[in-house]
Amino acid sequence: MKHVTDTSLKSYSPYSNTEESCYIQGKSGIMYPGVRIENISFPLTISAVQAAVCNCLANGDVPSTLYQDKPESELLDYWLKAFGLDHKTVLPGRFETFDPLVRDISDIPEKLDELCNNALTSHSGFPVAAILETENGYVTGVNVEVSAWSLGLCAERVALSRAYSSGYKRYISMHIYAPKSEFCSPCGACRQVLNELMPDKTVELHHTKISLSKHFVQHLLPYGITSGTLKKKNK
Ligand code: THU
Repeated sequence: MKHVTDTSLKSYSPYSNTEESCYIQGKSGIMYPGVRIENISFPLTISAVQAAVCNCLANGDVPSTLYQDKPESELLDYWLKAFGLDHKTVLPGRFETFDPLVRDISDIPEKLDELCNNALTSHSGFPVAAILETENGYVTGVNVEVSAWSLGLCAERVALSRAYSSGYKRYISMHIYAPKSEFCSPCGACRQVLNELMPDKTVELHHTKISLSKHFVQHLLPYGITSGTLKKKNK
């Protein structure tokens, strides 16, 4: 009998030192990993279930079963009810795990444009696409809206949580495109999350298919919160 806590999934929990991970199985049968991704601004923490559900939805799949033993994610009841999920604690004997890595993208603007078709924007009708360049390859993201506005994730955070949940933790640059925006720009919450996971890396904003601006993440979050007292010392 194998539980999620027996797998190699590893959360980013430097503030609580509490491991939290899970799998969401889609209707396709594929298993989508999700890990907790904490933030120095605690309310911006992404729970394991939120990461896994958005991972699944961004792939055009429908969440059907949650595999999680301990600890249970925050707002678990919301996710179980919103998607009518079964909740199991023991993993199936064999399963196929989703790997978000794309080895090669020849035309980033074209790929960003194409990805916008996968955005789930039932509330806003405002698609956003992100491509995270990692040291291993590319991980894509689109914005995912769920019934509770505050529990969906922006495209940037879908790309980052997908990558981190699959063990890709070394990043180079985040590309973003929002075809309906006058000027493409990451929201304040995404800036804070980018600053947590890739503070000295860059963000490339594709304003139109022919206009690009490149910024250091730290320059997009001047005077951001910092405190040596918040991180637990044994990490
Ligand atoms: N959105 C993003 O995906 N990234 C941003 O940086 C800004 C906002 C999404 C979230 C929501 O689905 C829609 O755009 C409207 O806010």
